[in-house]
Amino acid sequence: MNSQTGTSRRPGFYNLNLAERQHQLAPGDLLSLEEFAALTGEGLTVEQADHMIENVVGTHALPLGIALNFVVNEREVLVPMAVEEPSVVAGASFMAKLARAGGGFHASADPPEMIGQMQLLELDDLDAARQALDEAKARLLAEAAEVDPVLKKLGGGPRDLEIRVFEETPIGPFLALHLIYDVRDAMGANAVNTACERLASLVEEITGGRVHLRILSNLADRRLTRASCTIPLSELAFGDFEAEQVRDGIIEAWAFAAADPYRAATHNKGVMNGVDAVVIATGNDWRAIEAGAHAYAARQGRYTSLSTWRSDENGDLVGELEMPMAVGIVGGATKVHPTARAALKLMGVSTARQLAEIIVSVGLAQNLAALRALATEGIQRGHMTLHAHQVAIAAGASGEQVSRLAEQLVREKTVRVDRAEQILAEWNNE
Ligand code: MEV
Repeated sequence: MNSQTGTSRRPGFYNLNLAERQHQLAPGDLLSLEEFAALTGEGLTVEQADHMIENVVGTHALPLGIALNFVVNEREVLVPMAVEEPSVVAGASFMAKLARAGGGFHASADPPEMIGQMQLLELDDLDAARQALDEAKARLLAEAAEVDPVLKKLGGGPRDLEIRVFEETPIGPFLALHLIYDVRDAMGANAVNTACERLASLVEEITGGRVHLRILSNLADRRLTRASCTIPLSELAFGDFEAEQVRDGIIEAWAFAAADPYRAATHNKGVMNGVDAVVIATGNDWRAIEAGAHAYAARQGRYTSLSTWRSDENGDLVGELEMPMAVGIVGGATKVHPTARAALKLMGVSTARQLAEIIVSVGLAQNLAALRALATEGIQRGHMTLHAHQVAIAAGASGEQVSRLAEQLVREKTVRVDRAEQILAEWNNE
């Protein structure tokens, strides 16, 4: 079986060895030989990296895992995740399996409208400047439309101008002019920054003021993506935990994050464990996504949970996540980085919107994985097994010793490098 069979449900994938797992992605209709190589370890070369940033001396790799069981808007999808933290890929996959029993994830995205900001200072009369800008709107939008003919041809380009007033600031009153710009399948920073720079002199001419900053806003709240899932109550029972207990425990855990910024920060970090891993795997700007997520979480003046969890009329568990999702599939690292290109191919996405919908679904699954664990057996049990593998490797174990040593550490409930070294030394003396 390889990725061409089209299902993201791969029972037993976890227990396969590395070569067997790679075999499931074997080159064929979906992945070319190069793309397969890029996903399975032969990623970015130093020469390619040298064209991306300054002072390059090498590259820095992360583990790339495939999250299974995802169905997003009725479509099966294998999700590549680049992340160093144990339990993230397993957690997302397991929760996607529970969600699958309720029809998978349903997601939708706003049009890809980004906001570019121009800070307008040294105005004698704020109201007069506002009015002048309002009257010149068509001219300003026409000017902005000339910046990127390719985007224009694809149906993107400037959509609107908004004026915001800041009366009391340490530097006195000023205006902020927002250029709303449809960036289609791009993340959009370049297009928007260029458009803002291009408009600056015209804005100065129209208002008599001085345009200071001209830059994209990462609070991309016109480009929101939302995902939801329904977990059938029957899927929630496990071990000694009854389904109702797990469902209510998850809702109680969410209520803590909804009420308290200290908990919300950690709750949202759990969401971002999933979101960032896919954002990174696809070569997108995860700092931009992080900034947008946390600013959006504080939009009501108090930082809160990005997700919500509730019980529906059937007693099933319903989760929803809404957040800005400024990701692209053209331009930047998404095009240059071979692993990012292969990751997009594996997911079969052809628009930035589809990618955003998958990412937010993964964020919701990841959030559920954390809440389910926290509300029941605690987070450490699941973490420990994988953590123990890392400790075993750090202690010098190799090959089959790694799993054997990890298992012993977990059994002894002492997952520490000193103890791992001790056990290894004992084995080597046997
Ligand atoms: C750890 O990386 C993420 C969690 O702390 C998230 C949460 O507490 O919801 C487990």
